[in-house]
Amino acid sequence: MDSNNEETKPAKSGREQSNIGIEIWRKTQEKREEKDTSLIEHKPFAPSDKDAKFEINAEIERAMHALKNSNKHIFITGSAGTGKSTLLRRYIETNDMSHTAVLAPTGVAAINVNGETIHHFFGLKPGCTPDDMEDAVQRAKRRGKMKLFKALDAIIIDEISMVRADMFDCIDMFLRKIRKIDEVLGGVRLIAFGDLYQLPPVVTNQEKSLFEDYYNSPYFFGSRTFYELYQNELRDFEYIELTKVYRQRDSKLIDLLNAVREGKATDDDIELLNQRVVSAREIDELNDESIYLTTTNAKADERNAQKLQEIDTESFMFNAETEGDFPNQFKPTTDVLEIKIGAQVMIIMNDINGKYTNGTLGQIYEISYNKGNPMKSKVKVRLKDTGRLVTITRNTFDAVYNSFDIKNGVIIRKTLGSFTQFPLRLAWAVTIHKAQGKTFSSLIIDLERRAFAEGQTYVALSRATTFDGLYLTRPIRKSDIIVDQNMVKTLDVINMMLHA
Ligand SMILES: Nc1ncnc2c1ncn2[C@@H]1O[C@H](COP(=O)(O)OP(=O)(O)OP(=O)(O)O)[C@@H](O)[C@H]1O
Ligand SMILES: [Mg+2]
Repeated sequence: MDSNNEETKPAKSGREQSNIGIEIWRKTQEKREEKDTSLIEHKPFAPSDKDAKFEINAEIERAMHALKNSNKHIFITGSAGTGKSTLLRRYIETNDMSHTAVLAPTGVAAINVNGETIHHFFGLKPGCTPDDMEDAVQRAKRRGKMKLFKALDAIIIDEISMVRADMFDCIDMFLRKIRKIDEVLGGVRLIAFGDLYQLPPVVTNQEKSLFEDYYNSPYFFGSRTFYELYQNELRDFEYIELTKVYRQRDSKLIDLLNAVREGKATDDDIELLNQRVVSAREIDELNDESIYLTTTNAKADERNAQKLQEIDTESFMFNAETEGDFPNQFKPTTDVLEIKIGAQVMIIMNDINGKYTNGTLGQIYEISYNKGNPMKSKVKVRLKDTGRLVTITRNTFDAVYNSFDIKNGVIIRKTLGSFTQFPLRLAWAVTIHKAQGKTFSSLIIDLERRAFAEGQTYVALSRATTFDGLYLTRPIRKSDIIVDQNMVKTLDVINMMLHA
């Protein structure tokens, strides 16, 4: 953590100088300190994917081997922080993807792996069912997509835990019809990554009763498609579990998190966790150094708005520029971004030099405001974990789609539309749902009235890297730890069948 206490005080700021159209606003009390950034610059900084050594253990090796050489469907799973996403990125970067589509169930998850949403790739309308797939296939044909689907050997799906059984059946039906191959997924290989103990697919209250008439589990393995794989005794299915946790080093913390994951936390475990409860007053101070995780959007928005308002400095607004088709659900941050000097933000992209990654927290230190073209302004952010100052300029996020390149006979990624905005979002608070997949060295968890989703408390706790970096606004109750026992039984059955 930053040792400079000045940092935690509400920011004061002032206009330092102005030249042609550019105004530089900065935390005034830091001007003195700025001369001495060498100290800060040389602090070791947190490992990013680029900097961290990519360790290859026996499980990772087995997974890589299966990804490259097996022709079976593969599910790569493992608890939080075992390196699933890291492995997925490595695999995509270092292998031929010319007959593979990279997909994810949500826009944010898709952007994370430079992929496309499942809905967009298959042209699925919201609420569609497998019976609607004939229409979807006709639409795809009219749009000249036949060759794309014929050329497909594999689909990679990240965050498979959020793919609902009916969506999986839609994918299967679509691929069978368009490829005219009556096999599971029309003969396309599935490469799935995810942890089913984390947040589950969303089934709304309105959908619940209808959904339960057809499916006894919301997860992808509750689908009829997966039932076919069971009938075939999972001969076409490979299940690889990564067990070495990289996000946390402390083995006691890892054991504690695993107990929460599996719903096996004892009273003693919960008591130990609850030693991390702190008072409301302390929370307020801590929040200037740590992120605050909520269960609801309303609470996160309210906290961000309140914290921003508390800062008594000039407010700057930046309007995003959108080109082509950039679906709202893909947008990694707001169309209108309001920031102030001293605001706590999350950087939502990876730095090519590895200084920060998607999810790194920082504080706005300086805004060089370009009056003529605000989007050409520059924002300096002081990173929380390292004290390093980094300059952030606007970034163009592309929504990509998979397309078939007739000349070369391969699948290529094309841009559907782009969204240009500063890669920042206010981050005093975010929901646990939005924190999925991320790592934080210091975090406050507010389970509000109650945790309401399976795996929610586990996802929140497992974002932390150390026990000391974890704070709770209220004691965790046993009822906050929710595990879908039906899912656990199914995973047992899968393991039994595969190891019989
Ligand atoms: N093979 C590896 N060698 C060294 N460090 C790793 C390795 N894999 C992951 N890490 C580090 O561990 C942390 C967590 O990795 P990652 O986000 O890939 O885990 P995950 O399994 O996807 O977690 P989650 O289920 O929470 O999404 C990252 O900081 C990453 O740099
Ligand atoms: Mg991940």
